[in-house]
Amino acid sequence: MSLRLGSTAPDFKADSSNGPISFHDYIGDSWAVLFSHPDDFTPVCTTELGAFAKLEPEFTKRGVKLIGLSANGTESHKAWIKDIDEVTGSKLSFPIIADPERKVATLYDMIDYQDATNVDNKGLQMTIRSVFIIDPKKTIRLIISYPAAVGRNSAEVLRTVDALQLGDKHRVTTPINWVPGDDVIVHPSVSNEEAKSLFPNFRIIKPYLRLTPLKPEEK
Ligand code: BEZ
Repeated sequence: MSLRLGSTAPDFKADSSNGPISFHDYIGDSWAVLFSHPDDFTPVCTTELGAFAKLEPEFTKRGVKLIGLSANGTESHKAWIKDIDEVTGSKLSFPIIADPERKVATLYDMIDYQDATNVDNKGLQMTIRSVFIIDPKKTIRLIISYPAAVGRNSAEVLRTVDALQLGDKHRVTTPINWVPGDDVIVHPSVSNEEAKSLFPNFRIIKPYLRLTPLKPEEK
């Protein structure tokens, strides 16, 4: 069955660069960002992992655990992490799942179906760059897929975490290119009467588009 927003993130046990992992136990009461890589010792993946490692303190502040995946074994991951730290100046400490048989990648539908060059030396299709944001109830809240040739934007992943967490806390949605501090949209399910008490400074642009600031302490 395909995974969709709202699906329960499948649980699994796997080895990782930090030892064996039971995925739901690893998430615990936190949020998680699970992101896949096609292969160890590849250039785009190296830059991505360094960037995620450097941004990890920001994810931690938001109660989010990072966990990568690449279709290689733990010894390869450990050697690659040394390179990643050397090349990017990171201190990568979150686990990278070892998935040489593509078991987790198959469970999460991360296998490449369109890029004939994204294959390993046995001709097996590798993984794409999937991102899954999973909440503490283990519900998949966001899925992004990039092809192997296009590196992700780590700041965008953090931004979407902020938007999801804000929407869970307040009855708001976030407009195009929203970043923390920008005005947000009053959720369509909130009447104007309710909005007056919930968001005293809201303004009506159109009956269907109402904007409001949120004070930093409300975020
Ligand atoms: C990379 O990380 O650079 C990469 C990996 C697999 C295919 C293409 C690029």
